[in-house]
Amino acid sequence: MPRPLTARIDHAALRHNLALARALAPQSKLMAVVKADGYGHGLLRVARALRSADAFAVLTLDDAVALRDAGHVQPILLLQGFYEASELPEIAERGLAIVIHEASQLEALLASQPARPIDVHLKMNSGMNRLGLPPHAYADAAARLRAWSGLGSLTLMTHFATADEPAGIDWQMERFHAAAGGLQAPLSLANSAALVRHQAARAEWVRPGIMLYGVAPSVETAPGDLDLRPAMTLTSRIISVQNLGSGEWLGYGGTFTAERPTRVGVVACGYGDGYPRHAGTGTPILVDGVRTRTLGRLSMDSLYADITDLPQAGVGSAVTLWGEGLPAQEVASAAGTIAYQLLCGITRRVPVVETGVETGVEAMR
Ligand SMILES: Cc1ncc(COP(=O)(O)O)c(C=O)c1O
Repeated sequence: MPRPLTARIDHAALRHNLALARALAPQSKLMAVVKADGYGHGLLRVARALRSADAFAVLTLDDAVALRDAGHVQPILLLQGFYEASELPEIAERGLAIVIHEASQLEALLASQPARPIDVHLKMNSGMNRLGLPPHAYADAAARLRAWSGLGSLTLMTHFATADEPAGIDWQMERFHAAAGGLQAPLSLANSAALVRHQAARAEWVRPGIMLYGVAPSVETAPGDLDLRPAMTLTSRIISVQNLGSGEWLGYGGTFTAERPTRVGVVACGYGDGYPRHAGTGTPILVDGVRTRTLGRLSMDSLYADITDLPQAGVGSAVTLWGEGLPAQEVASAAGTIAYQLLCGITRRVPVVETGVETGVEAMR
């Protein structure tokens, strides 16, 4: 019998979540963010399920080329643009769009003569202070791009730092519109949290990522409120049962001490599979569909579920680490991290099973 751990990727859930995102902004074009290997779900797999998206966003040229080679013909945006001017010929040849977020990048682009026009998303730093041109340099950059013979289309873009928090987006929207307001061009503003929570961010383009994978983009929004469905469910089984007497320790470091006779289900899943190592005692886990908690410090290949109050559970019992029935964000917050990291962190040794794959659809668009 193979190791029982699998990541089930549900194409139907991806399609459902895409439809939901579209319904929130029916006037907008939707750019599906599929960077980081489709948030850990598999780039080409996700792109196939989301092939009706109006565009894709990735990070690397390799990912963009892989999408083109798989037959995806819609716009593909490189979210950090190019890192070396030597990437520009292939960017032009493949018909890729680039973010320009930095002065040196802009100069390198303007000094190039691409064989085909390049679509540019000009990014403003409206307050996140990560990537983007400062507001005072923005209109001039737009004007120079427009005067450049290599430009295809120009889109104006920014990214929100607190769309999922009480601070909201108004403070960034004000700066953005003050500096970009006079420029006539399509806008691309909203990540998932802004799309869900802030009507003003639903512009010509929206750029959701995490919600497409079934994770609520804000702590205040439970996944059920939006009817999002998890696209990844990580499941395994109990492979051994240990019976601890009161006072006995469990696992490396003996970080868990049984305060009462305790039945422990040893689950085939560990940090070598991408389960967060900082998930301590009390992290939620489902055994035979019943919610219980993990115990102690997990190891590379296994972790511990408390099955003291689940007398029917034993070797072979089904375990859900996250996904259907147990939102990834609950596991993440117990581990002091975010669902993004859990989903992206699934390692290569975890076999993937696909469900809900649409058959008989040949066209990629
Ligand atoms: C520039 C940009 N736009 C959109 C997204 C999608 O964000 P989310 O996954 O929160 O929807 C990201 C993700 O980090 C991003 O970096």
